[in-house]
Parts: sequence; C-alpha cells; structure tokens
Amino acid sequence: MIEVDPTVLENPRDDDYDSSGYDTSTASLTSSVNQYVFENGRRYHSYYGTDKYLMPTDEKEQDRLDLHHEIMRLAWDDKLHEAPLSEPHRILDIGTGTGIWAIEMADNYPMAEVTGTDLSPIQPNWVPANCRFEVDDAMLNWTFKEVKPRSCTVPGGHVELCENAITASCDDGSVKPDNPAKVYIDHLRAALTKMGRPPPDLEFMKSLLEKAGFEDIKVFQVKEPMGPWPKDPRLKRLGAMVLLHSDTSFESYGMAAFTRILGMEPDKAREMCEAARLAARNKNYHMYGQYYRVYGRKPAVKQ
Ligand SMILES: C[S@@+](CC[C@H](N)C(=O)[O-])C[C@H]1O[C@@H](n2cnc3c(N)ncnc32)[C@H](O)[C@@H]1O
Repeated sequence: MIEVDPTVLENPRDDDYDSSGYDTSTASLTSSVNQYVFENGRRYHSYYGTDKYLMPTDEKEQDRLDLHHEIMRLAWDDKLHEAPLSEPHRILDIGTGTGIWAIEMADNYPMAEVTGTDLSPIQPNWVPANCRFEVDDAMLNWTFKEVKPRSCTVPGGHVELCENAITASCDDGSVKPDNPAKVYIDHLRAALTKMGRPPPDLEFMKSLLEKAGFEDIKVFQVKEPMGPWPKDPRLKRLGAMVLLHSDTSFESYGMAAFTRILGMEPDKAREMCEAARLAARNKNYHMYGQYYRVYGRKPAVKQ
C-alpha cells in the first residue's frame, strides 16, 4: 500500500498539480516518408503494416522513451536488470528503442559485447566500443545462430522479460471505474487483447520461460505512482516523473490503438487520451501503474 502525503491536498480547491512545463508540441516529421506513415500528427514506422506495433517512432517518442528509462531506473532502485550477472560475454536487447539501456549495460559491463535490435534505426551513432545496434524484426527467424531466444542463450545464461502491466490501480478507492484514466486503460487493454497481444501478467510471463525450459525463474514487480501524491520521498519523486511522462505517454500508447484497432474516430480517441492526461494531474486520484520483470536461467550443460 502506498501512503498518501497529506500535504498534497492542503488546498482542496486546487485539485491539479502545477504544470510540468514539458513542451508537447515539438513532433518531428523529418524522416523518409517511404519508411514511415504519418498519422494524427505523429510518425509511425510502416514496415510492419499498421496493426502490429502501435507506438510512434518520432523525436517526441524518443524523448518519452529516454524519460521512461530514467523512471525505470528510479522504480527499480537503479538496477538495470534483476538476473544475477557477474561477467557476461554477450548481451542482447530486443526492441532497444533509443538504445539507452544497451548503452548503459555496455558501460557497466565492459567485458561484454552488447547488441541492441529494433525495427527502427533510432539509436545514436556515438556509443561505447562494446555496443552496436542492428535493425531486425524479432518476430522473424533469428540471425543469431539459432531460432529461439532459449537456443541463443549460452547454458547458464539468462533471459529477462520486462513489461508494462497496463493497469490503473489504487489502494484507497480514489480511482473509480469511470475515472477517465481508468476508462483509457480499459480501452487500451481491450485494443491489445483484440489484436491478439493481451497485456501480460506475471503468471503468463513466467509460463513463457517455463515452457522454453528455463529454470530458477524469479518474478518482480514495482508500482509507478501517477503524480507526486505518495508520502515516501522516493515514490513522490517517481510519481512526479511519471506525471511528466504522462504528458505524452497517453497519446503514444493510445492513439493508434484506439483508431486502428478499436475503430474510434481520431477526435474521440484524442479526447479519451486528453481526459486521461487531465485525470492524471488530479491530486485526488491516488493511481498507480505496475511494471514486471521476470528472469530465468538456461540449464547448464550436464557433464
Ligand atoms: C516501448 S518501446 C521500448 C524501447 C526500449 N526497450 C525502452 O525500454 O526504452 C518498444 C520497442 O520495440 C520495438 N519493436 C516492436 N516490435 C518489434 C519487433 N518485432 N522486432 C524488433 N523490435 C520491435 C519498437 O520499435 C520499439 O522501439
């Protein structure tokens, strides 16, 4: 249970948090239209068609991903991973985005060769010498020697999964079913389920690793408060960062999901994203999301 900071609601007439000052109007439209589609003011990659990966790839999204990485660092106590690594030789980051995690892993483990892969070439050129990026579709047969993640992992090596639970929870009943942020999350979950990729839960993530033959599987979860309402100073800071992130995250996650998958009109979809963004700023709602990490170890070769 996350305890609410009583000073957050000192002035009951002033429900909203102060403006974060984050500029949300700087979408970039500079890349080749041959590789991208432009929709509702955002750039998406079109390689995959329009119903498989639903988030934009433009600069606004890249800023969001980097901010979210910092949120993850704070949420996970600065741990880039949970798996017990000592001297890793090879690290693969699938769906690396801007590559920020891969770059930090390369810095932390100079003995390792780190490869980040993504559908989009949005990674920087100046990276540590032991880090490189490749454009690759993880859903196709792998070019890393074998076909399945387990086969590509050395005996004794680890695979770690990290997922957004896509939930809007609260511990004190302050978030009702008709809360606009909750309504938004319910629609997002419906869209992901409709497209055959329901939001994962810990049991499902664990079962994937079990089925693939991994052992010593461990599961972890953290709460991401929406707004600086918690009393605990670390959670308060985390909540402030999540609120800043929410300036663009509702649109990033929601627009394509609502229009392409649920068939919603763009105006209605934007209204739903904006209502959720405003609800997130309301001090009376003590809402939080959750993140999951699950890792397993590939059995060592029997002597
Ligand atoms: C939500 S972003 C996360 C980025 C990064 N891992 C992070 O935490 O900041 C998901 C990334 O996965 C990539 N992606 C989606 N489907 C993919 C696929 N089939 N193969 C490779 N990358 C994929 C997207 O292009 C996007 O950059």
